[in-house]
Amino acid sequence: MAIRLLLYSVTFLFSSAISITNIHPKFPCSIAKPVEKLSLSTKTEEKYFTQILDHFNYHPQSYHTFQQRYLINDKYWGGGAPNNSPIFVYTGNEGHIEWFAQNTGFMFDFAPHFKALLVFIEHRYYGKSIPFGGDKEKAYSNSTTLGYLSSTQALADYATLIIDLKYNLSATHSPVVVFGGSYGGMLSAWFRLKYPHVAIGALASSAPILNFDNITSPYSFNNIITRDFRSESENCYKVIKGSWQEIKETAKKYGGLQKLRKSFRICKNYISPESLENWLNTAYVYTAMADYPTPSNFLNPLPPYPVKEMCRAIDDPKTVNNTFKKLYGAANIFYNYTGNSTCFNLVDNSDPQGLGGWIWQVCTEMILPTGGNADDSIFPSSKWSYNDIAQFCKNKLNIEPRPNWITTEFGGHNIHRILERFGSNIIFFNGLRDPWSGGGVLKNISKSIVAIVAKEGAHHVDLRFSSSEDPKWLKDVRRKEVDIISKWLSEYYNNLNDSS
Ligand SMILES: *[C@@H]1O[C@H](CO)[C@@H](O)[C@H](O)[C@H]1NC(C)=O
Ligand SMILES: *[C@@H]1O[C@H](CO)[C@@H](O)[C@H](O)[C@H]1NC(C)=O
Ligand SMILES: *[C@@H]1O[C@H](CO)[C@@H](O)[C@H](O)[C@H]1NC(C)=O
Ligand SMILES: *[C@@H]1O[C@H](CO)[C@@H](O)[C@H](O)[C@H]1NC(C)=O
Ligand SMILES: *[C@@H]1O[C@H](CO)[C@@H](O)[C@H](O)[C@H]1NC(C)=O
Ligand SMILES: *[C@@H]1O[C@H](CO)[C@@H](O)[C@H](O)[C@H]1NC(C)=O
Ligand SMILES: *[C@@H]1O[C@H](CO)[C@@H](O)[C@H](O)[C@H]1NC(C)=O
Repeated sequence: MAIRLLLYSVTFLFSSAISITNIHPKFPCSIAKPVEKLSLSTKTEEKYFTQILDHFNYHPQSYHTFQQRYLINDKYWGGGAPNNSPIFVYTGNEGHIEWFAQNTGFMFDFAPHFKALLVFIEHRYYGKSIPFGGDKEKAYSNSTTLGYLSSTQALADYATLIIDLKYNLSATHSPVVVFGGSYGGMLSAWFRLKYPHVAIGALASSAPILNFDNITSPYSFNNIITRDFRSESENCYKVIKGSWQEIKETAKKYGGLQKLRKSFRICKNYISPESLENWLNTAYVYTAMADYPTPSNFLNPLPPYPVKEMCRAIDDPKTVNNTFKKLYGAANIFYNYTGNSTCFNLVDNSDPQGLGGWIWQVCTEMILPTGGNADDSIFPSSKWSYNDIAQFCKNKLNIEPRPNWITTEFGGHNIHRILERFGSNIIFFNGLRDPWSGGGVLKNISKSIVAIVAKEGAHHVDLRFSSSEDPKWLKDVRRKEVDIISKWLSEYYNNLNDSS
């Protein structure tokens, strides 16, 4: 039996449900759309900056450069000197920057209030910010070219670009606040810690900075998904939990694969039980991450409270005792909410959000143990094993992970004790329905390193565009965040006045 590893990208998208022999980052199939740019292009201008390839040594090839993309909006900005109005920077994560900008309505919504300049910087090796002359094939060819893809290089890019931009805009004294969600949230928190002279504070949303080493249990991620479904209904949990065995048994029977294919309306006349399991697993994982209170289109178009909708489909009395009809109903919510799919492809290697480089990061420094399943997990019980990942990375990229590097570089162990005395001005937001919240900072560290926790919240829900339908708890979260950022800014301006 093939051992399955789940390497969820932090953002999410990309549960690359990975089997050792067959790696396929899974993307929402039939309805995956190219990133919509229309709404955003009216709001931001696209620019490029000549960035240095390697910030950390002086070998000749380090001086190579590449074009790094950033998006900018100065509509609400109060200007640089002498007003010194603030600059809000999104520290891009593993995909096209416009996709993250679209999912960070928070910055647009509050820019007028703060008179802020908005800047969204694309992470190297993603979107259009590809080294080696923009040639993605070349940049992704092997470890010689991919070796410049790392979080430390990305942070150095952001610092370099921000300092240069401020100089160009005569805004040297404008305070910078960094924002990010998921991996981008980790980057924003780490940026504040490593570059305190560049950013006065960070809003790090759903940033699982403690999901490294053994700080967070590898069972936490799937435990939370289990809890999400189980809290909707015990039956929903039981049906999903029991279904894995039923799929396996059905697949073994004569005509069983055909039956599965028909039950789930799979496109090609081909199905493997593993690919069906991965396809269902992806639907549950992403739906848990995107369990938002209003309609969304982060990964796939989804209704409000999609976990509840899935369980409603599973609990439907009309499909009594028919597990596959129930699961089909649930999958249909994730894969076919717009009703446009004629059939489903189980394996989809399209990559509309441009997340391909994540595999490299997952095999070098982003060792986020998440794949363990306890006996009462909604997924089949399984052990998380570092060796499986190491073997996968060896086969796939001929590289050996460095699982301790992130905590060596950025810390994480005993974070409360350490950051209480050393750091300041970071907001860690987590929604407890988000499987990544288990690796987040959930308790206040100090007066200015604050954890905001919403038990009803999902993956970086606070950063999404506000809507009149937003529940009170979400409005309260955003109000708290705005108040805290205002406080950082007034302290900054007070200091600036004192010193001038
Ligand atoms: C890595 O890829 C680059 C660019 O495609 C190529 O020039 C180089 O020979 C490759 N190196 C190895 C060790 O395969
Ligand atoms: C700053 O201006 C220089 C000169 O025009 C330009 O080359 C550079 O890209 C600008 N920096 C940024 C961050 O746009
Ligand atoms: C975590 O691992 C480190 C060494 O890698 C070890 O010293 C420590 O005791 C472990 N902590 C727990 C809680 O297992
Ligand atoms: C469903 O299964 C249960 C237990 O096997 C059985 O008692 C019940 O009659 C079944 N219901 C229907 C409608 O088939
Ligand atoms: C998708 O939904 C539409 C509308 O509900 C339905 O007609 C169609 O059959 C569904 N597609 C699949 C593959 O089930
Ligand atoms: C679904 O199909 C309808 C009718 O063809 C179309 O108007 C709509 O844009 C489609 N939705 C998506 C999300 O593709
Ligand atoms: C942390 O402190 C803030 C007030 O500064 C409070 O609003 C918030 O609820 C606290 N967070 C937790 C997790 O207790």
